Amino acid sequence: MQKFILAIDQGTTSSRAIIFDKDRRIAGVGQKEFTQHFPQDGWVEHDPEEIWDSVVWSVKKAIKEAGIAAGDIAAIGITNQRETVVIWDRETGKPIHNAIVWQDRRTSALCARLKKDGHEKLVTRKTGLLLDPYFSGTKVKWLLDKVKGARGRAENGELAFGTVDSFLIWRLTGGKVHATDATNAGRTLLFDIGRNQWDEQLCDLLDVPMAVLPEVKDCADDFGVTEAGLFGAAIPILGVAGDQHAATIGQACFEPGMVKSTYGTGCFALLNTGTDMVRSKNRLLTTIAYRLDGETTYALEGSIFIAGAAVQWIRDGLKLVKHASETGPLAQSADPTQHVYMVPAFVGLGAPWWDAEARGAIYGLTRNSGPAEIARAALEAVCYQTRDLLTAMRKDWKSGNGDTVLRVDGGMVASDWTMQFLADILDAPVDRPTILETTALGAAWLAGMKAGIWPDMRKFAASWECDTRFEPQMDARTRKDKVKGWDEAVRRTLSA
Ligand code: G3P
Repeated sequence: MQKFILAIDQGTTSSRAIIFDKDRRIAGVGQKEFTQHFPQDGWVEHDPEEIWDSVVWSVKKAIKEAGIAAGDIAAIGITNQRETVVIWDRETGKPIHNAIVWQDRRTSALCARLKKDGHEKLVTRKTGLLLDPYFSGTKVKWLLDKVKGARGRAENGELAFGTVDSFLIWRLTGGKVHATDATNAGRTLLFDIGRNQWDEQLCDLLDVPMAVLPEVKDCADDFGVTEAGLFGAAIPILGVAGDQHAATIGQACFEPGMVKSTYGTGCFALLNTGTDMVRSKNRLLTTIAYRLDGETTYALEGSIFIAGAAVQWIRDGLKLVKHASETGPLAQSADPTQHVYMVPAFVGLGAPWWDAEARGAIYGLTRNSGPAEIARAALEAVCYQTRDLLTAMRKDWKSGNGDTVLRVDGGMVASDWTMQFLADILDAPVDRPTILETTALGAAWLAGMKAGIWPDMRKFAASWECDTRFEPQMDARTRKDKVKGWDEAVRRTLSA
């Protein structure tokens, strides 16, 4: 009897494979980091072949660790770093260039020009997004313009474009399926999220021939079967969602008004707005939360580009700690009388600032400042930025009355100190669930539910369990002063 579900979580810094048993317990895990390429200031690339190898390796490792055979897996759910662009040859399956990663800023001049020419209104109306290099569309144009012969080959139908999910589906199915799901399509700048289809006008604007685009499916859908030779059996791929959307599902944020925040490389907060496409007046994004049975649920999204990446920088760049987990205790030991602020605009600032040219800065250093104060400033910055997002959400969402509970997940939430500061600075409760692998769980639920062996949405939501609730404890005066210092630090960091 096939009773296991495999989730493939292809993230920004590593690929993970997790096998869940029928009771949604983790039976096996495989994880592999891969190389980050920084060819120029603000550029970030991945080698798609290395991504592919890391995925195959992780899946094999997870299967081995679970002590099962590939034939015991009923279905696969894929979740992925969003917006990252891969273009490959349909004949050979070979990428024509490295993947251009979501964090990459190389198209900021193009975005500024399009904005200056007055195109942002149309783009936002159709996609819910903004003209920022973060999204895929301008990256696709860059590749087609810069890689020799690519444009002609794309027009002839010889090349395929996809976000990472799409590239993996292509590879897993041996080139039989070129598809993506609505959540990933919705991040490309080429997809009309209201009509739920690729948009000719946007493709024209960004010079992207429609021949390169994948078919767009529901999040729980038939995405083909893996080549039997890969893992030892043909396994159906039945679920796909961008990682933030999968986390929204894994956190069971199915009701309008529910909000989750995931602390991975970046931090992304999604507020479920139901079937309403809420238009932000505060520079948040309107996005597809998930699409099931042809019905679209929307969300307001706040995107912060650097969260866990700041901890990574503390560890690998400054070498202040050996392990990321030491950052919380180090921050906790900081001198409380110092007011050090870090604005981690390493790749510009996302919501609500959208400043591609800003770069990171640290303020308030004294001769007494040391590793502990810098570590604290890095962790606090993630919390201040979350506060900026929630403040914008409360303004945009009509029933937002300040009683938001934030469901959190991702690597950084393991730190009690950080989560307490988050609750303090938000002035709202923060709920950390029992299952922290919410992104993988969300992808697994899509596949497991589609396969008919996991519970429906209602029962799945009822099984969500809170492990710890962090209640705000900071007095209003302290909070106000701290936020004032943060606002000032951001103001000084913005490029214009
Ligand atoms: O939009 C980018 C996002 O999908 C990346 O997620 O987990 O790598 O921070 P993560």
